[in-house]
Amino acid sequence: MLALDPRTNRRNLSEFAAKTIRVVEQHICAVKMNFHIILPLSASEISQINKLAHSFGLQSIADIKLNDIENTNEVAVEHLTNMGFDAVIANPFMGRGGLAALVQKAHRASAGVIALVYMSHPGAIEGFGLEFGGRGLYEEFLVRAADARVDGIVVGATQLDILTHTPKQLPIYSPGIGAQGGDAVKAFSSGADYLIIGRSIVESRWPAKVAKEFQNKILSVRK
Ligand code: XMP
Repeated sequence: MLALDPRTNRRNLSEFAAKTIRVVEQHICAVKMNFHIILPLSASEISQINKLAHSFGLQSIADIKLNDIENTNEVAVEHLTNMGFDAVIANPFMGRGGLAALVQKAHRASAGVIALVYMSHPGAIEGFGLEFGGRGLYEEFLVRAADARVDGIVVGATQLDILTHTPKQLPIYSPGIGAQGGDAVKAFSSGADYLIIGRSIVESRWPAKVAKEFQNKILSVRK
């Protein structure tokens, strides 16, 4: 999955997005858009990007790590699905009821919810790694995610031990490959089902070549 992450203050964001998608589409299954590309673009520009992704059979995911009260979450999902997003990433920190309500709302709109379980950056241990009732907060998040019937979870590719020990009950999306130090083959062999890759591809001089190399690495792993 391509993290469509532009460098800070990049101009012509729509062109950057369209060009990048066209160049790598045959090597990816989805695109993921973060706040820093969603915020500066208009709803119609984002819809165009999502339409382009769909025209290549790609899914589009809004990575806004949603984490608010039920009412505002629901309105946010409505806007995102109206713009053509197929799924949204959410933070189980919001609580069990809120997460379940969000999943129901998204499913009614034929969209999915992917829940954070353990992020990939070094500071993740300060939140997701906190002890909670004798276990890691991330373990509680996993239970909440499954109970709420989310469609997938995020566990960082830099957290191989946690990836290995995460029950294979939900598809695992793994960011943190390359720029953050994670290894595609190790992450995939440790249980990741989908790899989320941004800078290594989008900042390369040869995005298609790099994307293809990642694709080949994954295909070489027998699970
Ligand atoms: P890079 O450039 O490091 O980009 O390949 C990674 C992308 O993934 C996002 N990211 C996360 N998103 N949970 C998420 O939902 C995570 O644990 C996580 N870690 C990284 C990051 O925002 C970027 O878009």
